[in-house]
Amino acid sequence: MGTSYFEDKLREVLITEEQIREKVAELGAQITKDYEGKELVIVGILRGSLVFAADLMRQINLPLVLDTMVVASYGMSTKSSGIVKINKDLETDITGKHVLIVEDIVDTGLTLSYLMKNLESREAASVKICTFLDKPERREKDVAVTYRGFEIPNEFVVGYGLDFNQHYRNYPEVAVLKPEAYEQG
Ligand code: IMP
Ligand code: MG
Repeated sequence: MGTSYFEDKLREVLITEEQIREKVAELGAQITKDYEGKELVIVGILRGSLVFAADLMRQINLPLVLDTMVVASYGMSTKSSGIVKINKDLETDITGKHVLIVEDIVDTGLTLSYLMKNLESREAASVKICTFLDKPERREKDVAVTYRGFEIPNEFVVGYGLDFNQHYRNYPEVAVLKPEAYEQG
């Protein structure tokens, strides 16, 4: 995509809109197959997974319920604090339900390892993870990721829901910003 606002800020596009569209369709088809005959509860982790969850759920051909959680782990910096706080919990009772956590990115793994334990303790029938991006180099805690869109190198990326200081979520591809843009916020 080439709007001048974004072009000024971007160093490099890592994943294009077309690659994203194909991958999301693949993931949706796989999930549809794996959960055949079951009902799903999709748990979108806000705000980062909003764009991915919206696209993914429309590729899943199953009865499903959508819920969201807001968790904070990063604050205003590009470094993880290691602290996970639930700012908005589920409204759905997931006891006996098949839960699929939909996340934008697994980085250190701290957020998802915490969430996984938290949701499992509510006696769901199953809890699995679908992440759009995976940055395995930075992993500190092991998390079992069942569905993964793309593996990316250790770079801070924005777009397709991912932010830097709450901006760039509306960029439709996955990109790395110019160093100046990270300094300015
Ligand atoms: P983790 O707990 O370190 O795995 O962090 C996961 C969260 O950190 C994600 O849900 C994102 O909100 C944020 N995050 C990690 N890496 C990036 C990135 O490259 N760009 C934008 N947000 C990121
Ligand atoms: Mg997030």
